[in-house]
Amino acid sequence: MRLEGKSAVITGAASGIGRSMARRFAQEGAGLVLGDVDRGRLDKVVAEVVEEGGRAVGLVVDVCDPEAVEAMIQRAVEEYGRLDVLCNNAGVLDNLTPLADVSDELWDKVMGVNVKGPFLAARKALPVMIAQGGGAIINTASAAGLAGGRGGAVYTASKHALVGMTRSIAWYYGPQGVRCNAIAPGAIQTRMASTLVPHMGGFERYQPHFSQIPPHGKAQEVADVALFLACQESAYVNGAVIPVDGGWLTF
Ligand SMILES: NC(=O)c1ccc[n+]([C@@H]2O[C@H](COP(=O)([O-])OP(=O)(O)OC[C@H]3O[C@@H](n4cnc5c(N)ncnc54)[C@H](O)[C@@H]3O)[C@@H](O)[C@H]2O)c1
Repeated sequence: MRLEGKSAVITGAASGIGRSMARRFAQEGAGLVLGDVDRGRLDKVVAEVVEEGGRAVGLVVDVCDPEAVEAMIQRAVEEYGRLDVLCNNAGVLDNLTPLADVSDELWDKVMGVNVKGPFLAARKALPVMIAQGGGAIINTASAAGLAGGRGGAVYTASKHALVGMTRSIAWYYGPQGVRCNAIAPGAIQTRMASTLVPHMGGFERYQPHFSQIPPHGKAQEVADVALFLACQESAYVNGAVIPVDGGWLTF
């Protein structure tokens, strides 16, 4: 098993990509701490992992809340004696809202979950990982973190910021054994995609390009790349941003 004896914290683990990461990592032997705001769905994922023979603790965590995030990181150390992998995966959409229509509330919400959340968790995880000799941080960015036409204004800005944060962590902490990489999913079939309530202006701008989006990918296909980034096979990969988008970013 590729993560035997390791522990991982995964945010946004109650659904979609985070749920698939949890199941995949547990199958490979990792002990998990799973954080999400959705208690009902989170409990189901914990039960699922345990049923499949894995180990997981579920915590209701808003990734924007510094105290809750600190408790989540500490819990991994208390439970498993170490923290090897942090997946900053929780994220929210902006419903394709063009910049002139972005409210202060929407800006703060999307930047809070998608940027401040990963910052808070990485800030607490890094000293633990450095003290134990290394670790891996995996940020779920987006194709919208690499191009301007894959989301609304604030989602695009937030995922570009997350890509920048990924490269900065990689550069500063690589020498201390912590690798930090990002995944840039394209259109993946999850609750996020199905709950999208598109802004009319954003939707009109988007619509002519729909036929160019490759068929939806599966959450499992993103989790497989996260597993690669979490384990020894990717020991020399640091600061990478890996599209998992069926080729969407090629045009
Ligand atoms: N689905 C896609 O097409 C797609 C494409 C590119 C990037 N992504 C990114 O993938 C990640 C996972 O998204 P998904 O598609 O699995 O969506 P999802 O909606 O199925 O899952 C997101 C999870 O994050 C949780 N969450 C939201 N706000 C939170 C907060 N403040 N604190 C803790 N948890 C919170 C939700 O409760 C949910 O369980 C996100 O960062 C998203 O931006 C998704």
